[in-house]
Amino acid sequence: MDHFTYLDGVMHAENVPLPRIAAEVGTPVYVYSRATLERHAQVFREALADVPDKLIAFAVKSNPNLAVLKVLGAQGMGADVVSVGEMRRALAAGIAPGKIVFSGVGKTAAEMVAALEAGIGQFNIESEEEGIELAALAAERGMTAQCALRINPDVDAGTHDKISTGKADNKFGVPISEAGQIFGKLAGLPGVNLRGVAVHIGSQLADLAPLEAAFAKLGALVTALRGAGHTISHVDLGGGLGVPYRVGEVLPAPAEYGAMVTRVTKDWGVTLIFEPGRVIAGNAGVLLTRVVRVKRGINDPFVIVDAAMNDLARPALYGAYHHFEAVEPKGARMTANIVGPICETGDTFAMGRECDALVAGDLAVFRTAGAYGATMASSYNSRGFVAEVLVDGDRFAVVADRIEAGAIMDAERVPEWLA
Ligand code: LLP
Repeated sequence: MDHFTYLDGVMHAENVPLPRIAAEVGTPVYVYSRATLERHAQVFREALADVPDKLIAFAVKSNPNLAVLKVLGAQGMGADVVSVGEMRRALAAGIAPGKIVFSGVGKTAAEMVAALEAGIGQFNIESEEEGIELAALAAERGMTAQCALRINPDVDAGTHDKISTGKADNKFGVPISEAGQIFGKLAGLPGVNLRGVAVHIGSQLADLAPLEAAFAKLGALVTALRGAGHTISHVDLGGGLGVPYRVGEVLPAPAEYGAMVTRVTKDWGVTLIFEPGRVIAGNAGVLLTRVVRVKRGINDPFVIVDAAMNDLARPALYGAYHHFEAVEPKGARMTANIVGPICETGDTFAMGRECDALVAGDLAVFRTAGAYGATMASSYNSRGFVAEVLVDGDRFAVVADRIEAGAIMDAERVPEWLA
């Protein structure tokens, strides 16, 4: 459930009419709903009510906006981060260092030191090489890094290839066949307290079966590690739960996910860590855009909007579907190609899409844009960075300024020898 609904024929975010935001902030602009973020956090928490010890760490990569992190931190969420940049955001939003988990295959020495100094709760080590380096960095400083070993369970998540992470040939984690041996080696090093294992097999999962398969493999590994004398107190189950992008699409509900997790892990006797991103933020945001013009096509007309692939990359990158609808629909429908202004054919949001009839100047939204939207923006075609707004009841605030192309140009230098 989200809070983007029509009141008197005009789409609102909570109680704020979207045309008001467009008039005051301009377009394109991401609009987030605080009530929706809070509701999704609650639903996820309630789904896991029967898991006794847990940390729900929001995947910051899905929406790193400071105001969004502040809202979710106040819901008791921790943070799953994959860079020092994300860690600093989580800390700036007031999330306690102990609730921060650091994942990622390429943590640099400088990043590991910064995270050690910040006192984060857990490092998810992705390789033997990384574990050895982290242990040395911590030991040199007289510190102990709390760690889990990320396992690659060799399970096909059945999602888009570019966002699958748990197959044997993906770059993430250590092969499950070598996990026991690598765990034994790293657990003996000074500087680390290797206390658990972690897994994340992919994103936008439409089926719980691959998750259950991965968790079952992890459970067997926990038993084997304990059998070898290791103490396992933490297991990180990652994120991955999919969300509906299409009207009427049915995906496993958080409650079904929670029931499966509760059943599979009931005898583990560990603190479980979860790293949800999309399921919290996805449907809590829309990308608000204005139609620049409608151009005749050989077949369908092109609805050219002022948002482009630099603002919302998912359709161009993954062929992803984002529902598109008018902010003030008049009842008529059209079939159109929905495109941005960028100079490549990849800048296409949809071909032959049936949608509300639109003319130049009309406002429209791409839905389910709260996760992996603004955070993946670029300034391609010198378009600047898109603005972000957070709505709360009948008020709203700009929570990320639009960064104009000129400001980006100001950061560039022409060397004297070219002058
Ligand atoms: N934990 C780890 C270690 C991850 O790599 C990810 C996502 C998550 C948690 C959160 O997964 P979620 O609950 O959001 O599915 N840009 C792509 C998605 C990439 C996901 C990367 N990792 C997209 O737009 O679909």
